[in-house]
Amino acid sequence: MRTQVVIIGSGPSGLLLGQLLAKAGIEAVILDRVGKDYILGRVRAGVLEQGTVGLMDEARAGKRMHAEGLPHEGFSLAFDGRDHRIDLKDLTGGKGVMVYGQTELTRDLMAQRETIGAMTVYDASNVRLHGYEGRSPYVTYEREGITHRIDCDFIAGCDGFHGASRKSVPEKAIRTFEKVYPFGWLGILADVPPVSHELIYANHPRGFALCSMRSETRSRYYLQCTLDEKIEDWSDDRFWDELRRRLPAHHAEALVTGASFEKSIAPLRSFVAEPMRFGNLFLVGDAAHIVPPTGAKGLNLAASDVHYLYAGLTEYYQDHSTAGIDAYSTRALSRVWKAVRFSWWMTTMMHRFPDTGAFDQKIQEAELDYLTHSRAAATALAENYVGLPY
Ligand code: FAD
Ligand code: DHB
Repeated sequence: MRTQVVIIGSGPSGLLLGQLLAKAGIEAVILDRVGKDYILGRVRAGVLEQGTVGLMDEARAGKRMHAEGLPHEGFSLAFDGRDHRIDLKDLTGGKGVMVYGQTELTRDLMAQRETIGAMTVYDASNVRLHGYEGRSPYVTYEREGITHRIDCDFIAGCDGFHGASRKSVPEKAIRTFEKVYPFGWLGILADVPPVSHELIYANHPRGFALCSMRSETRSRYYLQCTLDEKIEDWSDDRFWDELRRRLPAHHAEALVTGASFEKSIAPLRSFVAEPMRFGNLFLVGDAAHIVPPTGAKGLNLAASDVHYLYAGLTEYYQDHSTAGIDAYSTRALSRVWKAVRFSWWMTTMMHRFPDTGAFDQKIQEAELDYLTHSRAAATALAENYVGLPY
C-alpha cells in the first residue's frame, strides 16, 4: 500500500503528529510494535506546557483535558524544612501549566484517531525503514507471520529512545551527546488525595522527592533512589516512610497514604542525537532526545518537535515549499538544547549526588537561596518551566 507519511510509534509524538496531519488533509499510517492496552498501561509524564495544551486543542483532542486536567499557577521548592513557592503566573505574565497524565493524553489522541477512521497497525514487529535517503522511502513490518510494505513520501520516527528509526541511521551520519546520572526515580501511583494542591520538588539530605498528582484523588510520588535499587525491596510502607522523611514537617504530617497500584524505577539520562533529519526521515521526540524528568520536559519536547514537523509538512503539501522541512532539524534542536540545559540544571540543583563534596554542597545551597530570593533568578526558572516559545 501507499500513504503520504508513515509514522513509526503510537506514543504521544506519533499520535499528535498523526492527528495534526489528518486535520491538514495529509494521510498518515501509524505503526507500533506493541498493542493499545500496553501503550495505555505505561505511566509517565504529568505536566503539560501551554504549547502542548494548544497542540492538543489544534488536534481536536483537548476536550477532556480541559474538563479533567488541573491548571497549576505555581509549585513549591522545598528545602531546609520549608516551602519556597515559585509563582509561575506572576513571574511569567499569566502563564501556567496543566497537570494531566500522559496516559490520558494518549487515550484522547487514540480515541480521536479512531473517530476519524485513520489507520493504526498495532503489534507490528520487525519494523524496518528503507530508501529514505532517496525519493522512494518505504517501511516494512511483520504481522501474524506476514510481511507488509508501505510506500510513502516521508517517514516520521516517533518510536522513542529504543526504537528502530534512529538505529537505522548509519553511525557516521549521526552525532550523539549523552550524560547518565548516578541515580534513578522510584515512582508510585496511589488513589489518595495529593499532599498539597501544588507540586512539591524537595531537596533533602536523604535525596530528592517529588509530590505530584493525576487528579484530586490520585497522587503520583517519586523518590530519588540508587541505580541498583529493586522494586521488590520497596513495600508501600517503606516508600511512605521515606517520602515523609524528605518533606517539610507540615507536609509529612498531612500526607495521606494508601495502597499503591503502580510502582516503577526509571534511570535518569540526558541524550541528544543530531541532526534530526536524514533525507526523508525525521526523528521526533524521545527517538532523538531524552531529558531527566526533573523539569517535566520530555513529553513537552516531543510536542514541540511535532509542531515544527507538522508546520514543515503542511508547507510542503499545501505550498509546495521545502523551506519548513529543511529548517526542521535546526529549529527543533535549538529548542531541544534549551530544555536539555534546563532539565540538567533542575536535576543538578535538586538531587543529592553520591560524589558531592562540601564545596559542591555549598554551591547547591547558594543556588537555591539565590533562586528563592531573586525575582530575576525565579523568573528564569518560571519561564523555562512553563515552556519557552516555539
Ligand atoms: P514514546 O512515548 O516512547 O513512544 C514511542 C512509541 O514507539 C511507543 O508506543 C513504542 O511502543 C513504539 N516503538 C518503539 N520501538 C518501536 C519499533 N521498533 N517499531 C514500532 N514501534 C516502536 N517525562 C516527563 O516529562 N515526566 C516524567 O515523569 C516522565 N517519566 C518517564 C518515565 C519513563 C519510564 C520513560 C521511559 C519516560 C518518561 N518521561 C517523562 C518522558 C516522556 O514520557 C517521554 O518524553 C514521552 O513519552 C515521549 O513521547 P514519544 O512519543 O516521543 O515516545
Ligand atoms: C511529574 C513528573 C515530572 O517529571 C515532573 O517534573 C512533574 C510531574 C508527574 O509524573 O506527575
